[in-house]
Amino acid sequence: MSAPNIETIVSLSKRRGFVYPASDIYGGLGSSWDYGPLGVELANNIKKAWWDWVVYERDDIEGLDSSIIQNRNVWKYSGHETTFSDPMVDCRACKSRYREDKLWDEFTGAKEAEGQYILAVGENRLIKFEVPCPTCGKSKEWTDSRPFNLMFRTTIGAVSSDDDPMALAYLRPETAQGIFVNFKNVLDTSRRKLPFGIAQLGKAFRNEVTPGNFIFRTREFEQMEVEYFCRPEDAPRIHQEWIDAYDAWLGTLGISSDNIKHYEQTAAELAHYSDRTVDFLYRFFPEREDEEKQFDELLGIANRTDYDLRVHSKKPEGEDGKRINPDTTEDLSYFDPQTNERFYPYCIEPSIGVNRTLLAVLMDAYEERTNDKGEVRVILRLKPSLAPIKVAVLPLAKNNEGIVTLAKKLKRDLQPSMRTVYDDTGGIGKLYARQDEVGTPFCVTVDHESLEDNAVTVRDRDTWEQERVSIDGLVAYLSSRLS
Ligand code: GAP
Repeated sequence: MSAPNIETIVSLSKRRGFVYPASDIYGGLGSSWDYGPLGVELANNIKKAWWDWVVYERDDIEGLDSSIIQNRNVWKYSGHETTFSDPMVDCRACKSRYREDKLWDEFTGAKEAEGQYILAVGENRLIKFEVPCPTCGKSKEWTDSRPFNLMFRTTIGAVSSDDDPMALAYLRPETAQGIFVNFKNVLDTSRRKLPFGIAQLGKAFRNEVTPGNFIFRTREFEQMEVEYFCRPEDAPRIHQEWIDAYDAWLGTLGISSDNIKHYEQTAAELAHYSDRTVDFLYRFFPEREDEEKQFDELLGIANRTDYDLRVHSKKPEGEDGKRINPDTTEDLSYFDPQTNERFYPYCIEPSIGVNRTLLAVLMDAYEERTNDKGEVRVILRLKPSLAPIKVAVLPLAKNNEGIVTLAKKLKRDLQPSMRTVYDDTGGIGKLYARQDEVGTPFCVTVDHESLEDNAVTVRDRDTWEQERVSIDGLVAYLSSRLS
């Protein structure tokens, strides 16, 4: 089996309706993507799998859906207004703009592949002198690096100017802050005791300097985040428990552990709120020669300490005494009735993108197989729970009224229990190939005999084996095979 690269998935996605370039008829919009009929089903199934796992299967997590646009103070006190930025440089010759750290990583990667090594010296990483512009290739003249805040700005209400500071608001760059500012609401209404978590799933927006690689880095994406609150002394243990739990959960999505690596962020890489972050890297770039560069971030699990609850609190008890917040009305500390202590809980945060998960799921499920006619077929070996379509009902002869009527009836009968489609737009070989390529676990074929013996042929996507099944027991048979 050949490992697919992202380009293979881009082409499959466009061809079969998983993901399309956004605003395509107007020439597209850099790094924006729309999810088609199969993509929206796959994304919904991933989100459902995650929600079922964290909110329903555990008994220590509540769900939440907070606003995308919050009071600007949320981002002021969270630190995002001042620190949520990337270093940016412009090419003086062609004016192309790049993220300085990514440019450097790619350049050193390329040089290492050629057997040359370049040492980074000082803060400016010698970009001005060493790195040619990837767009024009001619210049090594870069502007000084400067921070570029990644939050998308907008204005609220009928203001006269887009720059009116009173109306300034942001689209959230992470779902997490909506959880922190609702900590007390959820605590009071759910009557939870530590440890407990709050889960949220939804869109986030970042004005990335260099988005790219299909849906890997985009300006609009979806996150699935848990903020899990605990006593400070329990945080290291619970952090490790979440790392183990995510290893297991990714396996349930069909993602192979061979394609996952853990990466411990260095002190310089840690976000302003984090004490320790372990990233899970996925082999998104199998075509790269250097094995280390094949991997990039799928998710991160951070120990955010008590940073967020403190900064949003009326009376923070910070040792530095500087984090005074005069704008909030609440103190987000926690009172433990058993020990009679009041303190700010620590928070462990597993944060994963829906879009990167979908990409990893597609890459891991992709297989090419040669049939007995020597033709190469694509099979998406998706877990049945994630497959956009569970069953396809195919009539063997589309001009035979009895067969077509029975096939359409079977489609209607199966649909309430499992997502089913009916397709008669080709010969049976072509119809099977089409369903294999979108990951449909089972095809049900209605033939002439079905009208006599009240049975159909069920074909398995992964083995291509066929079995005769009685129509009366079809729903039960497929339900058990799908679960
Ligand atoms: N609340 C913590 C947080 O937002 P992050 O590492 O910046 O942490 C978490 O983001 C996850 O969100 C990433 O691991 C990735 O899966 C996804 N993500 C972040 N930026 C993204 C982007 N520009 N495009 C697609 N997914 C992104």
